[in-house]
Amino acid sequence: MFDYSGKNVFVAGGTSGINFGIAEGFARAGARVFVISRSPEKVTSAVELLQETGAEAAGASADVRDFDAVKTAFAAAHGTFGDIDVLVSGAAGNFPARVNDISSNGFRAVLEIDLLGTHHVMTAAWPVLNKPGASVINISAPQAIVAMTGQAHVCAAKAGVDMITRTLALEWGPEGVRVNSVIPGPIDGTEGMRRLAPTPQAMEMVRQSVPMKRVGIPQDVANLCLYLGSHYASYVSGAVIPVDGAWSLNMPGTALDPVLDHIAASRAK
Ligand code: NAP
Ligand code: COA
Repeated sequence: MFDYSGKNVFVAGGTSGINFGIAEGFARAGARVFVISRSPEKVTSAVELLQETGAEAAGASADVRDFDAVKTAFAAAHGTFGDIDVLVSGAAGNFPARVNDISSNGFRAVLEIDLLGTHHVMTAAWPVLNKPGASVINISAPQAIVAMTGQAHVCAAKAGVDMITRTLALEWGPEGVRVNSVIPGPIDGTEGMRRLAPTPQAMEMVRQSVPMKRVGIPQDVANLCLYLGSHYASYVSGAVIPVDGAWSLNMPGTALDPVLDHIAASRAK
């Protein structure tokens, strides 16, 4: 349906899970794809898997908390493929913990990866975005719109990400660059779900709380990103769009309580 032949896509945090699914979606649609994350091994293996789709793919190791490293990665991407048509920023960190159980450094770690990292990725990308016409997609989370126990750090960080999206849609709109956020719901087989729903019982509770009675797959998120990166979305900017089977309308803010109690009980043993 979507043809990204000749287009360059950069995916920050694109070496596993949802973001890898997004990178793969663009690769299968004909794009050249560049991925970054911290682990060189994950970068190598993601690039190999992307190339197996028949796409041109490359990558680099970089921590989004390190602005110089991010700038170096964009220079490498630009040198390899040229200007970037679609930028996806999805590097993130999460762990379930009530705020009283998170140190200043723990809170900072998540804010620096999710929020400061988004700033680093977007601003380092700016000089090499293919303007006008480029599309920026930030990967947010339901925690940005629904308060959730054990997730104060993520709620704060992802709400901040969505406000960066909205603000830069205003600032970059006149240059012909669109900026949107995507809010995935619970996505099967991902690190995020392994951390927040670590038992079969917790996973089943999540599934039951989704009005559509299923958890998502990375391709569900990739499909929305393919739309947002395309000319079909040429008047869509500053939007924060859930792809979650209506979960965020139904998600109890205390959903993580059993998981947090389970963690506390394991620690007490
Ligand atoms: P994941 O597989 O752990 O993806 C995170 C990616 O970011 C990995 O490629 C990781 O690779 C990279 N990363 C982490 N810290 C980084 C850093 N400091 N610098 C550069 N890269 C870094 O997790 P996921 O569950 O698929 O989550 C992907 C995105 O979807 C996140 O933005 C998350 O908030 C969002 N989300 C997930 C769910 C869900 O159901 N899983 C729901 C809503 C939103 P390295 O370890 O190599 O750095
Ligand atoms: N509960 C409370 N605090 C925790 C924690 C938990 N479960 N896990 C980590 N922390 C704290 C650490 O104790 C540390 O604080 P301290 O120095 O005061 O002890 C702080 O977080 C940083 O931990 P560290 O492991 O040094 O950070 P890192 O930079 O290596 O890793 C994380 C960042 C913690 C976010 C790590 O989980 C990560 O790399 N995540 C990426 C993958 C991911 O989360 N995927 C899901 C995305 S939704």
